[in-house]
Amino acid sequence: MLWVKAFHIIFVVSWFAGLFYLPRIFVNHAMATEPAEIARLKLMERKLYRFVTPIGALAIIFGLWLWFGYGFSGGWLHAKTTLVFLLAGYHLYCGHLVKQFAADKNTRSHVFYRWFNEAPVLLLTAIVILVTVKPF
Ligand code: HEM
Repeated sequence: MLWVKAFHIIFVVSWFAGLFYLPRIFVNHAMATEPAEIARLKLMERKLYRFVTPIGALAIIFGLWLWFGYGFSGGWLHAKTTLVFLLAGYHLYCGHLVKQFAADKNTRSHVFYRWFNEAPVLLLTAIVILVTVKPF
């Protein structure tokens, strides 16, 4: 079980690296005016999203493996899984935004994306407290 948990945490950390960085690129993209810079940011967004999506899926697969493979249970796990589905929704919405930016159809300001960038921090904090402290 410890190998499964180790890889669960490795994929979780890698997933969050992408979820923290991609909205930061959106902040810069929403402010960009130079065509060369815009083209570079589009490339970075597309490559990062394509790289981090399978990693997010593996984080969830290894989490479910822990849950169903080793008989974990408790309210904390249901609350955690609910937050993880919110996180997956955030991830998929980032994918939608990558397409919006690629088509030059972004309508939101860099200020919006600065706040948008904070959501994974809040989810990470709540998820880690739930799985470590197991408050209920
Ligand atoms: C549906 C998705 C997920 C499921 C079903 C799941 C389930 C689990 C289970 C059963 C454990 C073992 C708990 C224990 O050993 O006490 C675990 C460990 C852990 N999970 Fe997840 N997890 C999921 C996604 C995530 C995500 C997105 C994060 C991101 C923060 C995360 C962070 C952790 C951490 C840090 C541990 C190690 C806790 C410890 O050793 O005390 N998990 N997970």
